[in-house]
Amino acid sequence: MTYTTHLANCFEWLAAQPEHSFHAVLTDPPYSVVDFSPTEIEKMRHGVGGIWRIPMEIGGSVRRPQPRFTVLTTEQKRQVYQYFRDWGQVLNPTLVPGSHVLVATNVLLSSRVQTALEDAGFEYRGQILRLYRPFRGGDRPKGAEEQYPDVAVTLRGAHEPWLLFRKPLAGKLRVSDNLARWGTGALRRINREKPFVDVLQSEKTPKAERDIADHPTIKPQSLLRPLARLLLPMGHGVILDPFMGSGATVAAAHSQGFDAVGVELDEHFYGVAVQAIPALAAVQARDFLALPDEEQPNPLQAAD
Ligand SMILES: C[S@@+](CC[C@H](N)C(=O)[O-])C[C@H]1O[C@@H](n2cnc3c(N)ncnc32)[C@H](O)[C@@H]1O
Repeated sequence: MTYTTHLANCFEWLAAQPEHSFHAVLTDPPYSVVDFSPTEIEKMRHGVGGIWRIPMEIGGSVRRPQPRFTVLTTEQKRQVYQYFRDWGQVLNPTLVPGSHVLVATNVLLSSRVQTALEDAGFEYRGQILRLYRPFRGGDRPKGAEEQYPDVAVTLRGAHEPWLLFRKPLAGKLRVSDNLARWGTGALRRINREKPFVDVLQSEKTPKAERDIADHPTIKPQSLLRPLARLLLPMGHGVILDPFMGSGATVAAAHSQGFDAVGVELDEHFYGVAVQAIPALAAVQARDFLALPDEEQPNPLQAAD
């Protein structure tokens, strides 16, 4: 199975792709649009302010910068809708009918991403809650922590929503016809007995994977591999990640024996991905789906 990577702005790159090139999209875009803008990335690289909060050291361990979406203005939130609608419109023709598109988002922004992609012609098909503890939220009022010890300004996050969409089936085709014609239109089961559940136990990206690819939001192979498998019901097809980052999705698809294509705008991250993909594809990842039913996710015990 092969993969290709491209250093490009995915909007322009997608506009140049032939119709019906891809069978699924698995991607983790810049959630708020501005978080991966050149200005904000520059600030993050220099450790100064902006949307990327540089967390305090805890117990001597240095923690990675986290984007905070509570600082977005109303206008910036409107731009999120616009950005994802434009993206959906340029993406749509490149997919075969019945392709699924799975997009990571954030609880504060997901409604805008959902509406934008519906308005771009996709059917909304639900969401997968990735359970993990990102150590975000739940803080006491800044500067008055001792005065208000029993108060939290926001909820503590313990999940990340991944929105699922489908490009409409071709013409009047039924799912079975679409599967036969294009190999898409449905999702793959975990096994004959079990369909995929919409809550998925997950973990923070293991250090071994972060050491391979230095990217601020690299996702774990234990998450991306089952998601890649889910999106190709017949076990073959091309998976696209237009916001490739470290190349973790391309690596996950490749490790599962699928063809994959990744696109990345930032030259530095692109270089990281090219180096990292073979090594990420080779790592041993935890298999949360292999847990027996009685050990399946309990939101109160999401893995770290
Ligand atoms: C949230 S990160 C993806 C992380 C990735 N899933 C991983 O596991 O490493 C989003 C990436 O999209 C890239 N990006 C932002 N705008 C883009 C665009 N218009 N075209 C292609 N890539 C873009 C950013 O530079 C960033 O690396």
